Order: sequence, then C-alpha cells, then structure tokens
Amino acid sequence: MKTKSLLLLSALLFIACQYSLSQSTGNQVVDQILSAYSPRSYTTAAVTDQQIDLILKCGIKAPSARNNQPWHFTVVNNEAIMKEIIPAAVAGNVLFVISGKESETGTTPDFDCGLTTENMFLGATALGLGARIYGSPVAAAIKIREKLQIPAGFKPVIILRVGNIEKTADAASGASPRKAADEIVNYVK
Ligand SMILES: Cc1cc2nc3c(=O)[nH]c(=O)nc-3n(C[C@H](O)[C@H](O)[C@H](O)COP(=O)(O)O)c2cc1C
Repeated sequence: MKTKSLLLLSALLFIACQYSLSQSTGNQVVDQILSAYSPRSYTTAAVTDQQIDLILKCGIKAPSARNNQPWHFTVVNNEAIMKEIIPAAVAGNVLFVISGKESETGTTPDFDCGLTTENMFLGATALGLGARIYGSPVAAAIKIREKLQIPAGFKPVIILRVGNIEKTADAASGASPRKAADEIVNYVK
C-alpha cells in the first residue's frame, strides 16, 4: 500500500513537472526553449533557402571558447546523400553536418559545436520548423566526407536535421520527459 502511494505521488509529481514545463511564462524565448521538442516525422515540403540562411546565422552567432569558432557547416539537401547519412531523411529536409576543428588544443571544439547546434535547433524551432540532433549517423558522414566536401582539418561532430513537421504524426506533447529538478539540482547557500 505504502509503495502504491509512493508510486502515485511520484507519478503526480512527474505530471506536475511536465505540466509546468508546458505553461507560458510570458517570455517568448523562455517559452520557446521550454516547448521545443525533436520531431522524427517530416513532410516533403522544402525548407527554404531563407530559412537555411537564418538557421546558419543562429549557429554562427553561438559563443565559443576564446571566440575561436572552431566549426564548419555543411548544408545537405540532396535526398540521396541525406539518406546515406540518415536513412529516414525525406525530400524537403535539410541536414547540417557540423564539423569541429581537429587541431584545437586547450579549447573545447566539440563543446563549441554543441553550442552552435543548439542555437540552430532553437532557431529552426522558432521559425516553426522541426529539428532533431543526431549523433549516431556521424560515422556515416565521416565515411563520405569527400562527397560532403568537408575541408581538411575538420571532422564531423554532430548532425542537425531540419524539416517541416508532419503534424499528424507528431504533437508537442511528444517531447521526451525530463527529470525532475529536485533529482538533478542542488543549491549551496
Ligand atoms: C548529442 C545528441 C545526440 C543525439 N543523437 C540522436 C540520434 O543518433 N538519433 C536520434 O534519433 N536522436 C538523437 N538525439 C535526439 C535526442 O534523443 C533528443 O534530443 C532527446 O530525446 C530529447 O527529445 P525532445 O527534444 O523531443 O524532448 C540526439 C541528441 C543529442 C543532444
């Protein structure tokens, strides 16, 4: 009985946590961050060149250690090449292969690539598009690095897939649940 009550309480706390994340805070940027999610299903409607440029601008604006900007962006919207990297990609998607500078010492190119990727993820989401970050297909991108014309000295670190969301398949409620703050935060006063 005690276990059942504890389970029920945990479930209620979890639901309350997810609910509070979905509430409007009155701040557009914060609301954007709290409501963002990573869809897997997209229509074949094309991401426009203007949207691609804006997403790249968001990435280029990201902070980096010593402002080294140790990244290179490869924009792929050829369907066959996209599928070589992410088989589930569809026409209309665009993949941003984000490569990090290999020879950086004393800095954190992988971390910086993560920051630029999240800026682009949020930029794409703010434009009403869907975006999902992919780590596993990096190996496939490395295999075809010549075809992707990735400059020497750079190595693919992460991939961002962007597209128009298939709304019937994905709902904002499809976002993965997050841990409760009291599980992962401590305060030192
Ligand atoms: C570094 C990194 C690597 C990821 N790699 C993959 C991947 O290989 N395949 C995939 O489907 N999703 C991948 N994701 C997406 C995560 O699974 C997703 O961001 C997480 O489950 C949160 O989902 P939500 O944004 O919908 O809440 C990756 C995310 C990050 C940040």
